[in-house]
Amino acid sequence: MDISTAIGNITEQEADAIVLNLFEGVVTPGGATGVVDQVLNGQISALIAGGDFTGKFKQTSILYPASGITAPRIILIGLGKQEDFSIDRVRLASAVVTKEAEQRGVKHLATIVHGGGIGGLNVADATQATVEGAVLGTYQFTTYKTGAPPTNTLEKLSVVEFDSSKQTDIETGAQAGQHIAEGVCLARNLGNAPGNDLPPSVLAEQVTEMAASVGLSYEIFDEHRIQSEGMGALSAVGQGSTRPPRFIILEHKGQNPEADPVILVGKGITFDTGGISLKAGDGMWDMKFDMCGAAAVIGAMQTVAKLNLPTRIIGIVAAAENMPDGNAYRPGDIIKPLGKKTVEIRSTDAEGRLALIDALAYIKRYNPTAAIDLATLTGACVTALGNDASGLMGNNNDLIQAIHQAGNRTGEIAWHLPILEGHRNQIKGDYADLKNTGGRPGGALTAGAFLEAYVDGYAWAHLDIAGTAWNNTTRPDTPIGATGVGVRLLIDYLRNLS
Ligand code: BES
Ligand code: MN
Ligand code: ZN
Repeated sequence: MDISTAIGNITEQEADAIVLNLFEGVVTPGGATGVVDQVLNGQISALIAGGDFTGKFKQTSILYPASGITAPRIILIGLGKQEDFSIDRVRLASAVVTKEAEQRGVKHLATIVHGGGIGGLNVADATQATVEGAVLGTYQFTTYKTGAPPTNTLEKLSVVEFDSSKQTDIETGAQAGQHIAEGVCLARNLGNAPGNDLPPSVLAEQVTEMAASVGLSYEIFDEHRIQSEGMGALSAVGQGSTRPPRFIILEHKGQNPEADPVILVGKGITFDTGGISLKAGDGMWDMKFDMCGAAAVIGAMQTVAKLNLPTRIIGIVAAAENMPDGNAYRPGDIIKPLGKKTVEIRSTDAEGRLALIDALAYIKRYNPTAAIDLATLTGACVTALGNDASGLMGNNNDLIQAIHQAGNRTGEIAWHLPILEGHRNQIKGDYADLKNTGGRPGGALTAGAFLEAYVDGYAWAHLDIAGTAWNNTTRPDTPIGATGVGVRLLIDYLRNLS
């Protein structure tokens, strides 16, 4: 989607439709909607007075004015009650109305910024959310659909603002919104790609192409290098697959390439059968999404590069395919991770934490100021929090608070869960230092405790995105499938560092 900004009058935009908005309960519209209402001799107020449009959140209505505006139609979007208004609602409202326009065959849409005027939000933030909503709401994953491509696709979005003093904010907000939304779409595309087409090597190749195109430096370890580095845990997880593991390092240098970096780590299990501890067949297809933590890191790194953030940021992906096979690792095996403490395998299905601990041990050499891992780690986290919040754990309260707040600002809710002495005790090994499962009680937390055991002296947070990484039904700003969760939260967190 081509996105541009313009200073001018929304009534004069050469587009297939213009978008206006209304708060619930407003009788006489103000702002841009009010201006257009006057130009149309009260046609919008009449729609409100007649009860056809109330401004209820996500409600839409369409008008074909005979004259007065250049575009043939107006699409109205309800913003809900002013006291419930938020940046989150801007993005959702924009998603709904843009999708509506697209389904009506609109190719070029001109929109005002939702909430930048009467809504009282920061103009750059509101613009960013308006653009994010438009791009994310119209996202489609059509790579594997044969036949004619969809004809109803929005091609151009113009963000129009009357007040020229807001020009810089509109421009920076629209730019940020586009770069962020494109990072989310990359994460969604990777997440939605099926296991057969996205083994670790292909994931690594795609990352390489992305990195080269946006100017990130990168290094890929193949299975031999992974072994020679001493990453016995990632090796064990990958050894049952004919398609070997990869360890991916991306780097954005920022203003000071010598500075201690912030590090993002993603679980990249390209397919999780459970291995010898084989999963039940029903629903196993969703385990193509078991690399969504990696997808979030990759999407975020693309955005970091495009925004050219001042901070030095490193992205790490531990990629493997978890398969049952004559060569696969088995329950009872004892493995030697890079982080020294040996692990007794209780379940080959608790593979994500194994892939991650080698990454968490590896990054010690960078002396990170903070490390954040993202992983579709436990079904227990889905049981605990459902699909509306990711689990958030860690060893540093400031970092946890900063991530929690980034989650609130972006609508990617991250809920703090504890790691307690009991959880650490649950994973003490009988035959080795640790075991890789702690039984049913507190399954998300024992997984957190397991990761924590390999975090050596740096601030660390863990996001369990098992419940939030993909949708089973369509939501306004996310169709069915991978959500790209994490990208917006991470970027918000990283932008607030500087
Ligand atoms: N990838 C799964 C976790 C998962 C399950 C994510 C369902 C999303 C939906 C992970 O590798 C796994 O299998 N975890 C096990 C751990 C158990 C064996 C301790 C689980 O949650 O059952
Ligand atoms: Mn598993
Ligand atoms: Zn898994």
